[in-house]
Amino acid sequence: MLILGIESSCDETAAAVVKDGRTVLSNVINTQIELHKKFGGVVPEVASRRHIETIDAVIDEALEEAGVTFADIDAIAVTYGPGLVGALLVGVSAAKALAFTLNKPLVAVHHIKGHIMANFVEHKDLEPPFVCLVASGGHSHIVSVEDYTHLEIMGRTRDDAAGEAFDKIARVLGLGYPGGPLIDKLAKEGNPDAVQFPRVRMDKDSLDFSFSGVKTAVINYLHKLEQNGEQYNKADIAASFQNAVTDVLCEHTIEAAVLKNSKIIALAGGVASNSALREKMTSEAGKKGITVVYPKPVFCTDNAVMIACAGYYEYLDNNFADMTLNAVPSLQL
Ligand code: KG4
Ligand code: ZN
Repeated sequence: MLILGIESSCDETAAAVVKDGRTVLSNVINTQIELHKKFGGVVPEVASRRHIETIDAVIDEALEEAGVTFADIDAIAVTYGPGLVGALLVGVSAAKALAFTLNKPLVAVHHIKGHIMANFVEHKDLEPPFVCLVASGGHSHIVSVEDYTHLEIMGRTRDDAAGEAFDKIARVLGLGYPGGPLIDKLAKEGNPDAVQFPRVRMDKDSLDFSFSGVKTAVINYLHKLEQNGEQYNKADIAASFQNAVTDVLCEHTIEAAVLKNSKIIALAGGVASNSALREKMTSEAGKKGITVVYPKPVFCTDNAVMIACAGYYEYLDNNFADMTLNAVPSLQL
């Protein structure tokens, strides 16, 4: 079965063709990073306009790269939330137009489910149940993946997403945008124990996250040094911040896996490409006999392969959308 996946929830216009949910025939991503760089973050209206300009070409390229035509496609899967409403609408409208004119089934995909499903593309033997940490620019969730379409949320952020904190601290350090990969790189040259930033636990029994405290702690720490005219080593700050955030992500996720008696932890979302997170999770979970899997970086950040993959399993579950499908910017899991 061939699924055409379409993704436009934020600043990537993406289309992909995936066979039987796991085999990637094409993966086209038109990233808008350069466009938004000068603003230090994604400007929603600018993003929507660029999606409109590029989506047709991106879809055509995905078909061409896969060596197929519209006639070969069995269904069209599209992200309908969560995300920026104007951006989502472009993908949803394109998918509806294609489904209608080609008379093909339409499948609506939750963006976060997509991120999780990226793991199936990379790890052909991976099967639910397992515990997944989804950490991106907009979300930080610990999810129990019960089966291919049903998830149970075990923990979530009460304020900022992990990626949002990375982006903010990178901006404060003057590194640029998006901040996650830049902090990851700089941190390799720094001492992760140089400064002890807070590791927040909301309640004793809660797996929820809070990253606004560590973000503020770093900002206050830097302000104080600047006010006193003291020099600081950016790499040490980056490494210490990253150490604090990844400690919390690992601790809570491993706790969730132990609670569920799960022997597998999957990582997903943009922050899942963080090298310190991957290493720490692998070694800490390993001590408890838990294996850690994650997609390669191109499948961690936004892409349409993950949407086609999630769409395949929704299709098998007979979960189809119709022409009333709309973008849902704050869609819940
Ligand atoms: O999944 P994604 O592409 O978009 C959302 O759905 O939000 O994630 C983007 C986020 C950004 O905040 C970016 O800074 C972060 O993922 N990110 C990273 C790394 N690569 C991307 N954060 C930490 N380390 C990285 N290597
Ligand atoms: Zn995403």
